Amino acid sequence: MNSGSLGIGLLGLGNVGSGVAQELIKNKELLSERAGINLELRKVLVRDIHKSRFVDVDSDLLTTNWTDVIDDPNVNLIVELIGGETPAKKYVQLALSKAKHVVTANKELIAKHGQELLALAEDTKVNLLFEGSVGGSIPIISALTRDLSANRIDTIRAIINGTSNFILTAMAEQNMDGARALQLAQSLGYAEANPHNDVEGIDASYKLAILATLAFQSKIDPSQVYTEGISTLEAKDFQYARELGYAIKLLAIAKCEMKEIQVRVHPALIPDNHMLAKVVGAFNAVELEGNLLERTLFHGLGAGQGPSTSAVLGDILEIGRRIATQSYPVKFIELEQSPKIIPMNELKTLYYFRLNISDRAGVLAQITKILGDLDISIASVIQKDSDPSTGTAEIVITTHISKEESVQRSLSLLEKLDTVTKVNNVIRIEEILA
Ligand code: HSE
Repeated sequence: MNSGSLGIGLLGLGNVGSGVAQELIKNKELLSERAGINLELRKVLVRDIHKSRFVDVDSDLLTTNWTDVIDDPNVNLIVELIGGETPAKKYVQLALSKAKHVVTANKELIAKHGQELLALAEDTKVNLLFEGSVGGSIPIISALTRDLSANRIDTIRAIINGTSNFILTAMAEQNMDGARALQLAQSLGYAEANPHNDVEGIDASYKLAILATLAFQSKIDPSQVYTEGISTLEAKDFQYARELGYAIKLLAIAKCEMKEIQVRVHPALIPDNHMLAKVVGAFNAVELEGNLLERTLFHGLGAGQGPSTSAVLGDILEIGRRIATQSYPVKFIELEQSPKIIPMNELKTLYYFRLNISDRAGVLAQITKILGDLDISIASVIQKDSDPSTGTAEIVITTHISKEESVQRSLSLLEKLDTVTKVNNVIRIEEILA
């Protein structure tokens, strides 16, 4: 083993930080052996030194002052596990500008500022690695930047938020309501500090921006990702979806065709015989299509202490190896700076409508006229729940390929009909080969 040492400063001792600290302490020898250099945890930034913790870190290492970590001359690698943009960005910038290597699992930071931070790392000739930012234990960043880099990737379909997948699985399989399932996901350490980001698709939009940037070698900002969450889904949607042969997942989809890119996160019906339909609980999956690989699916736990710790430690070991072998940091890919992002209005896909209507003659004709006039062709209609006491019924319509803009216009027209008492939900259907 190389006789040198890699001094590690940890920012944050939360769920993932504790996992990383625990491994660096308990398995120091083994991990150092694998890195080819001694890994020494030298400083840990915490909010409260006296808080009781399950991980036994020497109290001399703990500090509440971030400069104690970043300015420590014996710390050469900063591991940022605070999350969010502020103050994480400042700490990472300072660390890189002081020529310290950085490992982070911060998807928001990398999605919004990755390019700038990687340029800074290049200037100071240090490594900035972020495997833990997407997909927990799934090695997707390394796959896109290294193993699959000979491909022209054209499609990403991914389930990249463990909390929302956990909630959707509980709703589909146990009829559990969303709020209870979220509580459970939180208690298992999957959810963000602000679970709104999980449930409303924001966390997945950061992760998709990172994946699409790497896959299409084009700078995709998270603000360019169309984002819808899972909070409008109801038990009935799962029942109808099942009957129609679909599962419902929060899908992150990115496609690149003739240099035109679409990036979107929203609930989607997917055929129940497709592998993505079988991704349950806090598992994540990323399906890629490319010219050489054809179709590849990565599957693994995308949230929780162990899986995220695995990714962060993988990056630490990689930096250790690069230092031990005196390799230069790997140059980051050049990105197309202003890719053409297709507006959501121009999307063409299949749709599922669930409507409450007056249960009387001619109502269906009114609805089909609105859809027909907008060139929305109906694939199937289900009418089940009639309520004689209110004279209403619920119908579910699925369509052939239609334009998003037409579907949105149809909704405003349907809502104006006094025979449509409520548009309960509209969900896009992702038709994919099993
Ligand atoms: N809250 C995230 C999730 C954690 O549920 O997937 C991992 O990024």
